[in-house]
Amino acid sequence: MSKVVVYKHPLIEHKMSIIRDKNTSTKNFRENVSEVSALLVYELTKDLETVEKVIETPLTKMVARELKNPVVLVPILRAGLGMVEGIQNLIPSAKVGHIGLYRDEETLKPVTYYAKFPNDILTGCVIVLDPMLATGGSASYAIQTLKDKGAKDIRYVGLVGCPEGVARLQKDHPDVPIYLAALDEGLNEKSYIVPGLGDCGDRLFGTK
Ligand code: PRP
Ligand code: URA
Repeated sequence: MSKVVVYKHPLIEHKMSIIRDKNTSTKNFRENVSEVSALLVYELTKDLETVEKVIETPLTKMVARELKNPVVLVPILRAGLGMVEGIQNLIPSAKVGHIGLYRDEETLKPVTYYAKFPNDILTGCVIVLDPMLATGGSASYAIQTLKDKGAKDIRYVGLVGCPEGVARLQKDHPDVPIYLAALDEGLNEKSYIVPGLGDCGDRLFGTK
């Protein structure tokens, strides 16, 4: 069964309280989503392999270390886009692939409208980004798409999850670790996470 990590860190809790607050402005929402994403990925990447590299400091030569394999970020459009910039600030060499999915409001099943990935998904650490793990359908589908294209080392990172979404991902992808800033109570009748933060895409892009 896949590992589930729910981070308990004062900075993450503080920023999540801003993100969840319905009175938070679009700008503040976007900034905090970006910052929490970076904090999560700092932890999630702590087991990445490094290799030696000889460099010269202003004083002398030394053996330093650098990342061994590429990192690929794959935001699930739209809301995953809000997580990219903060993580890119930490890992400027990361490549970005995209998968566009929306949740059909009646069937709640994911529908793909765009998918483009760099070749580095074959050898790199692929981090799937989506702030909301609700039924888990979107994340599971995106991960399956990446596996079908040959990705091996896949990790999922989100802001808010719930037991239903975690169970679905663990069942469909027991090899993919799940990293979250918060695990909420569950889903309401429209499959929104409660207490959650509302519609993340709308709040990021000011579309409601
Ligand atoms: C939201 C969210 C996830 C999905 C989660 O996207 O960003 O991708 O719902 O729900 P699930 O776990 O039940 O699949 P949405 O479909 O609203 O599209 P959007 O990001 O374009 O707004
Ligand atoms: N998508 C969202 O944006 N929010 C939820 O609570 C569930 C799915």
